[in-house]
Amino acid sequence: MRVSRRRFLRWTLVGVGATGLGCLGGPAYAALIEPRWLTLERVEVGLAGLPAHLDGLRIGLLSDLHHGPLVPTEQVERAVALLQSQAPDLICLTGDYVSGSADFAPSCAAELGRLDAPHGVYACLGNHDHWTDPEQVASALESQGIQVLRNRAVEATAGLWVAGVDDVWERQADLETALAEVPPSAPAILLAHEPDFADEVAADGRVALQLSGHSHGGQVRLPIIGPPILPYLGRKYPAGLHRIGPMQLYVSRGIGVISPPVRFRCRPEVSVLELRSAPP
Ligand SMILES: [Fe+2]
Repeated sequence: MRVSRRRFLRWTLVGVGATGLGCLGGPAYAALIEPRWLTLERVEVGLAGLPAHLDGLRIGLLSDLHHGPLVPTEQVERAVALLQSQAPDLICLTGDYVSGSADFAPSCAAELGRLDAPHGVYACLGNHDHWTDPEQVASALESQGIQVLRNRAVEATAGLWVAGVDDVWERQADLETALAEVPPSAPAILLAHEPDFADEVAADGRVALQLSGHSHGGQVRLPIIGPPILPYLGRKYPAGLHRIGPMQLYVSRGIGVISPPVRFRCRPEVSVLELRSAPP
């Protein structure tokens, strides 16, 4: 088939134009669209030894809000509304509420204060909270009725304990103290901001499920290569559900971003985990 010179030029221009748009569109999408484009992750988590009355219990999870110069309150508000629409039985928050300054804590906590679940709302702190003012962040959350678990545990409902360690990166985590009051036979859920702490927790053997964030999934996940950049203590388990010995670990990609404020193939997530009894 012969192609006229005019048609060849026309297709060449279309090709150049499409490539140009693609080059411009990729960064614009990563900077303007995907960081705000929340998705809901529903995950079934099998736990050995889960009492029958807890089978089907649904845990809502938000992590890494990073409210601050790069993440407006509207993003926190949208995440809260999406999670609340799922009516979870229990809600867990796994740290990094603010970026840059604890002055953002009251407005972040005010949005999180709208969360409500029959068995309560529990939180641990993250490294970014410690890099501002952890006391101010914790008190802002507590003032909204959120229980901040810094190396302590509470019985959320009969037979189900929620424990939290303080930040691992800042060497404030004390697993022994966090689990001290948990009866040996009760299934415990541990909130720990940094997911790679899970190897130590699984070796301890007392925790059924660890919930974490921190990695943001890498924020950018390239085809074939995956995330080119992951943070310290967020490299081994960057996202999703992992089984580590007898323990399950779920890692959220989080709600907010740190600089550079982009996401690509790594949408911010609101998570709902449904607990199921599983064989040992
Ligand atoms: Fe974070």
